[in-house]
Amino acid sequence: MGKVCIEGVGKFYQHYPSVVAVVTARIGEKANAMAAAWHSALSFEPPLYGVAISPKRFTHDLVLEAGEFGVNFLPLEKAGVIAAVGGSTGREVDKFEVFKIAEDKPVLTSVPILAEAYAAYECKLVSHHIFGDHTWFVGEIVMVHLVEGALTDEGMLDLSSVKPAMYLGADRYVTAWCESLCYLDRKAWTKG
Ligand SMILES: Cc1cc2nc3c(=O)[nH]c(=O)nc-3n(C[C@H](O)[C@H](O)[C@H](O)COP(=O)(O)O)c2cc1C
Repeated sequence: MGKVCIEGVGKFYQHYPSVVAVVTARIGEKANAMAAAWHSALSFEPPLYGVAISPKRFTHDLVLEAGEFGVNFLPLEKAGVIAAVGGSTGREVDKFEVFKIAEDKPVLTSVPILAEAYAAYECKLVSHHIFGDHTWFVGEIVMVHLVEGALTDEGMLDLSSVKPAMYLGADRYVTAWCESLCYLDRKAWTKG
């Protein structure tokens, strides 16, 4: 099959699918959540996590003011929550109330932790920087919430019990099926 070269990223879906996060923050009584497909681990020691948030989002200023944020990962069967928080703004609705989003208690911060999340990070904001039309927020992970049995003995997501919600673009969601799992020993592959 031939390839084409295009100037410009278009809808910027080429690098998907990727796991979607629900980023949360709280100031006093005001709690909010938004969907974020642009996020990444940045460092082991200290454990740092980054998320790109447009200044247009209500969550943007909430994170700045709170100085902390939550990163929640939902299974595909709860992708409706992602679509809901990614399609509405906390300026107009209380998403937790309207979409009946249940919370677990945070431990070291006040960020909302989604009860339906199979994993979630409580992050303290350590830095932020504007890149183009988004702000890159960097948080130190101070607490990890994890559903029992979500990880294998090797610390990977156990795909036989958790189906992570991944974003493909254009409001389409997929997951990673355990049937596609393959083990490639890097030592064997680098021989010769
Ligand atoms: C699947 C999905 C992924 C998204 N990823 C991002 C993202 O990475 N960064 C961002 O700023 N907005 C992203 N958005 C848009 C925000 O979630 C959306 O604008 C939301 O309504 C903002 O809510 P808020 O105004 O309450 O903060 C995404 C939306 C969806 C549905």
